[in-house]
Amino acid sequence: MPYAKFEEIIRYIEELAESGDLKSGSRLPSIRSLAKKFSCSLNTVIKAYKELEFSHKIYAVSKSGYYLVEDFPYKRQAGSAVTVYDFLSAGPDKHAMPYLDYKHCMNLAIDRYKEEMFTYSDLLGLPSLREELARHLRDLQVFADPSRIAVTTGSQQALHLLIRQPFPNGKRTILTEQPAHPSFIESVKDQPCLGIDIGRDGPNLEQLEFIFQQEDIKFFYVVSRFHNPTGHSYTNEGRRKIVELAERYDVYIVEDDYMGDLDPDPKQDPMFAYQPNGRVIYTKSFSKTLLPGLRLGLAVLPHELIEGFTRAKFAADVHTPVITQGALEIYLKNGMFASHIEKIRTLYRKKGEVLLRAYRAFMPEGTLYSSPTSGFYSTVRLPSPLKADGLILRLKERNVLAQSTESMYLEDFMRHDELRLSVSHVEDRMIGVGVALMAETIREMAIERKKGVMWR
Ligand SMILES: Cc1ncc(COP(=O)(O)O)c(C=O)c1O
Repeated sequence: MPYAKFEEIIRYIEELAESGDLKSGSRLPSIRSLAKKFSCSLNTVIKAYKELEFSHKIYAVSKSGYYLVEDFPYKRQAGSAVTVYDFLSAGPDKHAMPYLDYKHCMNLAIDRYKEEMFTYSDLLGLPSLREELARHLRDLQVFADPSRIAVTTGSQQALHLLIRQPFPNGKRTILTEQPAHPSFIESVKDQPCLGIDIGRDGPNLEQLEFIFQQEDIKFFYVVSRFHNPTGHSYTNEGRRKIVELAERYDVYIVEDDYMGDLDPDPKQDPMFAYQPNGRVIYTKSFSKTLLPGLRLGLAVLPHELIEGFTRAKFAADVHTPVITQGALEIYLKNGMFASHIEKIRTLYRKKGEVLLRAYRAFMPEGTLYSSPTSGFYSTVRLPSPLKADGLILRLKERNVLAQSTESMYLEDFMRHDELRLSVSHVEDRMIGVGVALMAETIREMAIERKKGVMWR
């Protein structure tokens, strides 16, 4: 779906500012000229300018027009335009987030759920939202009664509570993919926990079976689509076999489908679809697809875990705020989420393709990279003996930002030679340059290393 006209105008002005074509403090194009340029009404341009004004990028001068603020774009330093290649920020693409639509839903929710705000609400979430979520999940091949759905304060809360909750299999050890996203790793640090390496299509199944057989595994934590940090997705066959093994050895699966909505292939199934009766616990986040600050997530639980989970949720924060829940319900119900997802699915897939092309074109021999199918996360492994920390410092000097994967490993699996790249905050046209700068820095460091030059 194309951007709404007013979003196009916002992007146009931001790009003019970032490229330096529009100097900070200077007057913006007139409303009339933009309406003509974008073939839209004056009101559409005014809406775009109001939005830019609201986010403190421009300001209005009575009877004169709109002006760019002095310190925008913030990437500008000492009067010269400096471009930052931000492969570090893990949040969604700011330009693509439906901030205004959601604001509208929040306003409606404040009116609609006024009564609920005067008292504590249902611990597992607004019943009407849980019904709406059950409908939404069906599109993802997750068929579950609303009574099994718990709304959580971000999906990380669901994971955190499940890690600590006793399970009916009476087992205590958590098995996690290695690597896994940082907040999950942080959450299992004080728990009995084992890891298993994952490759392109998931773990080695013989090794997995051995662990299920020999160890006291309560659940196996899996991100089988758009893995963080590798960006990989398992095959359906791989998913099915893991669920079979879990059944055979009485192990639960916690399937973190945090970005399932972004899957462009409707034939891809979540693991939940292979065992919907409770063996697979399904969690989902609205942080990457909507707005991370809302802290909205959910878990689809087996009946036997609901009581324990409800008590744990009560102890954690009683319930997720009613207003954000109500706004999500309205947003889902009126079809805004579906059309928004269609838009960002294409956006992130394209970013993934651009990134992969850049890796292929620029990365030096000996550098390994994962090939993501969505433009969120991917991992780069450096040629031996280069270390991620040294590279990150050198990259920073060139305004290329990235993160080491160290916080994504358990102690026994620790690696110091990997970077996670997130392209959600990097514009398509900047991805290639950012990767080329990274590749050049890796090459330089490898040469220095060979010559015995010391670096930090
Ligand atoms: C794979 C994965 N699961 C879960 C989460 C937590 O998301 P939320 O913001 O919904 O708590 C993250 C956050 O980045 C993530 O990467």
